[in-house]
Amino acid sequence: MATLAAQLDLPEITLADGNYDQRHALRMSLRPDQWLVRNLFGYAVVQYDDVIAVLRDKRWHSATSKIPELMGITNPAFLERQQVSILSAEGDMHTRLRRLVAPAFSPRAADRLRPFMRDVINGLIDNVADAGRADFTTDICEPYPIPIICELLGAPKQDWQLFSRWASDILEIFSVDVVSKLDVIMRAQEELGEYTRGLIAERRSKPADDLLTDLIAAEEAGDKLSNDELVMMVDAVIVGGTDTTRNQLGCAVALFADHPDQWARLAEQPDLASRAVEESMRYFGAVRGTARFSSCDIEYRDVLFPAGTFISVGLAEANRDRDVFADPEAFDITSPSPSQPQLTFGSGIHYCLGAALARAELQEALPLLAQRMPKLAVDGQIIWKPEGVGIFGPAQMPISFAAGH
Ligand code: HEM
Repeated sequence: MATLAAQLDLPEITLADGNYDQRHALRMSLRPDQWLVRNLFGYAVVQYDDVIAVLRDKRWHSATSKIPELMGITNPAFLERQQVSILSAEGDMHTRLRRLVAPAFSPRAADRLRPFMRDVINGLIDNVADAGRADFTTDICEPYPIPIICELLGAPKQDWQLFSRWASDILEIFSVDVVSKLDVIMRAQEELGEYTRGLIAERRSKPADDLLTDLIAAEEAGDKLSNDELVMMVDAVIVGGTDTTRNQLGCAVALFADHPDQWARLAEQPDLASRAVEESMRYFGAVRGTARFSSCDIEYRDVLFPAGTFISVGLAEANRDRDVFADPEAFDITSPSPSQPQLTFGSGIHYCLGAALARAELQEALPLLAQRMPKLAVDGQIIWKPEGVGIFGPAQMPISFAAGH
């Protein structure tokens, strides 16, 4: 007979603000066999196998659809828009969307942007190379993903600024005072929607080599994406694909600044790029957790979680699981690939749709940065973002490096 979760005597944890050392200390304070803990929203799983089990069990639904409710949002227009997003859809609706769009997000599709990614990152480094110092967040992380998303979609260079503004406004969705930002968010979503509809009309008459053309052409058994669904996908790409990539780049470079030997090694051996990306995402992921709620009563490991129970899924904690990673506390890009993947892209049906693109972006950026910013050091203090609903990383990161490369 399963025990009701609420009746268990569980340690309570509050996720601390701060960097990976502080978060790590928190995890280390738990008993090694402690698989379930209590937190602000409900419960949390913190071990690799449980994280995977929850993410792969379709009865646990994405909590994205519940965020507006948790934040006290009641605006019907806003709520309706959230319902159709791939990020929050479940069941047949999600399966259908995912089947239709997945081929457009394949590694091969991401690979065609690699030369462009190198141009963008080189251009950004050019701006600071002679000075030998920069704010890594403002000068490199912030501007990196927008041109790539625009190129991916097929939006011309003169519209990068426009996209940048829409992305910042739409990303207010993750801010703590989202209720007061609803007008700004919805206006940006509407403007982006209108723009995307124009682009769709153009691509329908004149197909190009880009994501939008692929999505328009996507068809399975006679089924196609509607115009509204195409607009929703562009919105999801902006919400899912800009701040994540920026912050992951910031986290990775902060980590390398603490490991100068590995930075130098990456510069010498750019073929370590793929390991460097996986290992830095394992050791210091920008998405440290996600959340689910039970769509019905769920029994797991002899515990009963009644319908509607919230559970946080500790991706960062799972990424340091001793039973899965040989030496989880060591950051080493030369160590052999572990037999199981790092979990910063999630797992199960909502596994990051943009993983191939994000990997390509980071794999192209890191070796070039290592080569052109030798002797990288943090030059002052890193200001970290507060740990909130979404994505973690440096808000400010002053750096110095050998100039002129
Ligand atoms: C390093 C960068 C990135 C990280 C760490 C990341 C992380 C994640 C995670 C953890 C999820 C699953 C969330 C959950 O299960 O609740 C996810 C989903 C998603 N990501 Fe990413 N992401 C990154 C980059 C991207 C990019 C570049 C794109 C777009 C091109 C993207 C688009 C999406 C979408 C659309 C989903 C929802 C998929 C679904 O629900 O079926 N992400 N991402």
